[in-house]
Amino acid sequence: MKYLVTGGAGFIGSALTKQLLERGDDVAILDSLEHPVHPNGVPFKPLPPDAMFVHGSVTDRDAWTRALQGVDRVFHLAGYADYQPDFSHFFEINTTSTALLYELLATGEFGVEKVVVASSQAIYGEAAYECPTHGKFMAEPRPLTQLELHNWDVICTRCGAVSKPIASNEEHVAPHNSYSISKYALEMITHRLGKRYDIASAAVRYSIVHGSGQSFLNAYSGALRSFATRMLNGNPAVVFEDGEQFRDYVNIADVTRANLLVMDSPAADYRSFNIGGNQWVSVKELAELVDTVIGNNLGWEAPGLYRVGDTRHVVSDVSNLQALGWNPEVSLRESIEEYIGWLSSIGDVPDTFTQSQKVMERLGVLRRVSD
Ligand SMILES: NC(=O)c1ccc[n+]([C@@H]2O[C@H](COP(=O)([O-])OP(=O)(O)OC[C@H]3O[C@@H](n4cnc5c(N)ncnc54)[C@H](O)[C@@H]3O)[C@@H](O)[C@H]2O)c1
Repeated sequence: MKYLVTGGAGFIGSALTKQLLERGDDVAILDSLEHPVHPNGVPFKPLPPDAMFVHGSVTDRDAWTRALQGVDRVFHLAGYADYQPDFSHFFEINTTSTALLYELLATGEFGVEKVVVASSQAIYGEAAYECPTHGKFMAEPRPLTQLELHNWDVICTRCGAVSKPIASNEEHVAPHNSYSISKYALEMITHRLGKRYDIASAAVRYSIVHGSGQSFLNAYSGALRSFATRMLNGNPAVVFEDGEQFRDYVNIADVTRANLLVMDSPAADYRSFNIGGNQWVSVKELAELVDTVIGNNLGWEAPGLYRVGDTRHVVSDVSNLQALGWNPEVSLRESIEEYIGWLSSIGDVPDTFTQSQKVMERLGVLRRVSD
């Protein structure tokens, strides 16, 4: 079987490529080696010599055409994820690329039997809540005037009651930024055009993925990178809001298994699946665990910073994937140990949080509450 993995030089794509090669499949990689993950266009990690590498963009018809030769199955993971306000770029890389893939497959000139595309938990936006009086609802983004008052809770718009977060299942989405809207559109293209042209297709919505091999240069790669690079440089972790936000975290090995399961299961066709850690963990608990693993007793601080459009709590319900026979197997602590071990093996790691904080403050994405 021959697979094409777009974004195969990146964090999730390279782990998937390794697994496919180990089980004896042929792999082609289509990747444009984007900054900052691959500085100066040099792969962050060496590319596997036994995979065919096409250096090109998923926005380029010719690059797709070269990469799709002889391919049976496609994992489309190349994507743009950031907090930058370059809205159109999200749609160009995440959405238009997917339309281009189906445009090519619809010609019937390629023998692709199945496509799995990478989506995101971000598609749930401010996510699912339950009001004690009015029941379940998908929350709207919290107003800036509320956040300015250090009031972080999600409230019911009908009665103003503080509402309880509940795990988000695949049924209801509420994307509210350019990244998540571009991913929702990618899913619609995948399911609708896949079905119309009889190309088996599925989407996977990752929660926050952890593991070795994740670029610490990617400003979007989340709290673990930020806490670890702060603490390895002798500084306490910085948490946004009050650190009570709930998230779920999933290890790269579990993500790779889930990707393969969705690809191999006809029961997954034309559906979207959450891939998450199945555990509610607050951001400050994550900081404390990182501190324990590093062992420097630096702790964390909450200096009153918040990100515009950030989600208060979001945790994915993974029961649909469990019904296919998957469960997360790597604990959060093991995942953190793996990441810190890998980061420490690189040598001196810069405090990338402090660098990205300045950029985000300049762009108005990261704000500080007034006293
Ligand atoms: N890592 C996570 O926690 C997470 C969470 C939710 C969703 N996702 C999604 O999963 C996918 C993979 O994420 P990742 O963590 O491996 O990211 P990554 O940044 O490590 O890898 C992405 C790869 O895509 C390549 N790429 C970017 N633009 C391209 C283009 N125009 N043409 C060809 N290649 C291009 C990059 O060079 C990079 O190698 C992305 O679509 C991302 O949106 C990731």
